[in-house]
Amino acid sequence: MSERTLVLVKPDGVARGLVGEVISRIERKGLKLVALELRNVERGVAEQHYAEHDGKPFFGSLLDFITSGPLVAAVVEGTRAIPAFRQLAGGTDPVEKATPGTIRGDFALETQFNLVHGSDSPESAAREIKLWFPNLAG
Ligand code: PPS
Repeated sequence: MSERTLVLVKPDGVARGLVGEVISRIERKGLKLVALELRNVERGVAEQHYAEHDGKPFFGSLLDFITSGPLVAAVVEGTRAIPAFRQLAGGTDPVEKATPGTIRGDFALETQFNLVHGSDSPESAAREIKLWFPNLAG
């Protein structure tokens, strides 16, 4: 059951030089990169990406953060890629939820600065891949 997921190495991950670490973990897991790009994100794209969180108390600071510097966007493919990457990432709160051995559990301390994003469902993955990589062939 091969599927695709949208992965972001957020601005904190790029600034801290953790892009290689994240990509390496993705590849060692057995997942494949099918698109990869370093880019600055326009606020409008960020708003669409996080639309489901509009109205939550952290929405504004999340948009400020995600547009604060370059990030790496990637499309990752493989068997059960969506849950597989979320397993690699660890829980949203890097201390309370992410366990050691995960990206967040090993390298992050604060929920906002949790280094990576991965789509949470097939519907989100389809929407996010279309938003970030509109020209990617299926
Ligand atoms: S929720 O409310 O349970 O739906 O939120 P959650 O799915 O845990 O998180 C959604 C994304 O928002 C980020 N987040 C935060 N950013 C800043 N401050 C706070 N307090 C905060 N809480 C959650 C979280 O990292 C998620 O980002 P992504 O990129 O989807 O992992």
